[in-house]
Amino acid sequence: ALAVVTKQDLAGLTVAVSTGGTREPIDPVRHLGNRSSGRQGVAVARAAAERGARVRLVAAHVDEGVLTDALHPRIEIARVSTAAELRQSMHAAADGADVVVMVAAVADYRVAQVSDHKLRKEDGAPVLELVENPDILAELVAAREPGQTVVGFAAETADSEDELLERGRRKRSRKAVDLLVVNRVSHDRGFESADNDVTLVDAHDEVVSHAAGSKRLVADTLWNEVVSLRR
Ligand code: CTP
Ligand code: CA
Repeated sequence: ALAVVTKQDLAGLTVAVSTGGTREPIDPVRHLGNRSSGRQGVAVARAAAERGARVRLVAAHVDEGVLTDALHPRIEIARVSTAAELRQSMHAAADGADVVVMVAAVADYRVAQVSDHKLRKEDGAPVLELVENPDILAELVAAREPGQTVVGFAAETADSEDELLERGRRKRSRKAVDLLVVNRVSHDRGFESADNDVTLVDAHDEVVSHAAGSKRLVADTLWNEVVSLRR
């Protein structure tokens, strides 16, 4: 019988990956959320494990059915809910990791005063004051250990390929990551869908690869690039 053996080009590496979308509570029964399914980050974790890496996966609100793809002897899963929890878990996961990949959709804002009781209509329409969450990726870059590679994701809407690249390059420099995966999204592309369309921008703001297709293809393209830039 023939066995397909995946190239073990990440053997010996420990990688930290975040995925899913954080939820920021409003009251005991409500939250602010986003549309991220966690599929792309799970594919990134799975691809890394199959290529030989040890993976620390931090998952924010990823459905069981999606998370089953992350069941692998080399993947350790931590579940989180809020940006604050994801932040703590990712700092721990990044400690001693060779590669850190932030795929999670982190809420940019949280509710300033979380109500300890359910908001009621009789109290009138609430006005939610929002405060900015810390930029976890920026913190991870600032805390980067020698030899550690940090990768970010950016979901962008853009009217043209040029605008997309311009936004991607600007975000790459602002974040100071080694690699930024720029994902073109729209109401029907990117989130919740099986396929992605991504452009990879390196630390010189050069486009180093492009991938359109399955989230696994995007994940393998990311790891190919990480392998090549760590050489
Ligand atoms: N990110 C993070 N912490 C945040 C917000 C974002 O770590 N508070 C990470 C995401 O996981 C992603 C990258 O930063 O890897 C880019 O996220 P994105 O939302 O595109 O960038 P922002 O800096 O939040 O800018 P904006 O939403 O205004 O485009
Ligand atoms: Ca954001």
